[in-house]
Amino acid sequence: MSLMTPEYSHAVIRAFEPSDVPALTQLLNMPGVVAGTLQQPFRSFAERAKLAEYFSPQVNIIAELDGVLLGHACLNVASDISCRHSGSVDVVVRDDHWRMGIGSNLVRTLLDQADNSIGLRRVELTVLAENTGAIALYETLGFQREGVFHDYAFKAGRFVDAIPMARIKM
Ligand SMILES: CC(C)(COP(=O)(O)OP(=O)(O)OC[C@H]1O[C@@H](n2cnc3c(N)ncnc32)[C@H](O)[C@@H]1OP(=O)(O)O)[C@@H](O)C(=O)NCCC(=O)NCCS
Repeated sequence: MSLMTPEYSHAVIRAFEPSDVPALTQLLNMPGVVAGTLQQPFRSFAERAKLAEYFSPQVNIIAELDGVLLGHACLNVASDISCRHSGSVDVVVRDDHWRMGIGSNLVRTLLDQADNSIGLRRVELTVLAENTGAIALYETLGFQREGVFHDYAFKAGRFVDAIPMARIKM
């Protein structure tokens, strides 16, 4: 699938491979990504590789252009038998490639899989309340706020709220 803006027309969205771990580690250690998420900034390739071994989302994709990993996103279907109609999404884009349509294309790809391959009714996520850019992106894709988790995380020396959001397919 092509990405949105013309300069990224040759970019592709493809399955994440174990060989992507080093590039994904660099992306996840970027300051903007760390600020917007609960990622810890000093994870090594080896730690990431170990995490990747145990963490196997049903849809695990990256956006890539000319061998550069620009973004990553994944969809995890809930394991509880009563909640298998639900999945949660995560998305990250390299700090130097924001606002080029990469994040929304990755999430759209996950939603297409959720709707047309897996048959999910509910797709959910949790976003830090101060991450207004990500909240705007999710709202453009049909996610709605479902409340507030107060003092959800400790970041940059203080407790911060988070917003649960979901998109229900009718
Ligand atoms: C949030 C994030 C994934 C957005 O990815 P992106 O590729 O920059 O998003 P897109 O270019 O697809 O943006 C799509 C739309 O979302 C909204 N949006 C995205 N980032 C925004 C920002 N910083 N401020 C306001 N609106 C924003 C806009 O409506 C945008 O459309 P526009 O550029 O035509 O106005 C990216 O900024 C990122 O990786 N941040 C750090 C990690 C993170 O916060 N991940 C989400 C955790 S819940």
